[in-house]
Amino acid sequence: MNSVVKSGITLAVIAGLCTALVALTYTATAARIEANEQAWLERSLQPALSGLFFDSGVTESMMTIPPPHDLPGSEAAIVYRVYAEDTPVAALFVVSARDGYAGPIRVLVGIDVSGAVTGVHVLEHRETPGLGDRVESGKSDWVHQFDGRSLVDPEPAGWAIKRDGGQFDQLTGASVTPRAIVKAIRDTLLYFEAHREEVFVALQEEVE
Ligand SMILES: Cc1cc2nc3c(=O)[nH]c(=O)nc-3n(C[C@H](O)[C@H](O)[C@H](O)COP(=O)(O)O)c2cc1C
Repeated sequence: MNSVVKSGITLAVIAGLCTALVALTYTATAARIEANEQAWLERSLQPALSGLFFDSGVTESMMTIPPPHDLPGSEAAIVYRVYAEDTPVAALFVVSARDGYAGPIRVLVGIDVSGAVTGVHVLEHRETPGLGDRVESGKSDWVHQFDGRSLVDPEPAGWAIKRDGGQFDQLTGASVTPRAIVKAIRDTLLYFEAHREEVFVALQEEVE
């Protein structure tokens, strides 16, 4: 056998072993990765669930709303439905505030059946550290000013930062990020008000 054939066989064996190793690693870690992702998701949803009584698996009640829709953001929005004894309790929306300072801001907005905010949590953003990033719950209390508020408290016109004549605080030296998030929460509340039945009818159909 000449050396070219020998080298070819050796390379093929090495390539085969590497492929098998990659496949083995993937099989061994796929379940753990999925479990970690699930745990991360459940942790992320917690800020919008405080104070709610529910007996459902929240992440299993996920519904995707493909574009075009009236929610903030041009990509698909996600809704998690929360219920107790098959009765709707709240809907948690994952939407995108489009006009952040450095791009879209992925925000979780929890709304209970009466239309009041159960909690807001900024999931993903590229805002500037020390300026726009103070919308993160770990960095300031800014995001908690929405807890319990609804479209009657204040009326839709009041859903703006104070600088724009609304009722919500901006952040010192950073109005762009807060403005984008307040608008996204308001638009999510308006969507919920207009589509409440659809959101929960879909839930009941899936539950049955
Ligand atoms: C480098 C740099 C980064 C900035 N990052 C942000 C940011 O992440 N979020 C924000 O709201 N404003 C940010 N600003 C400030 C805005 O440009 C703007 O001045 C501020 O939000 C106040 O806006 P206003 O004129 O509406 O009050 C940044 C400014 C600079 C120069």
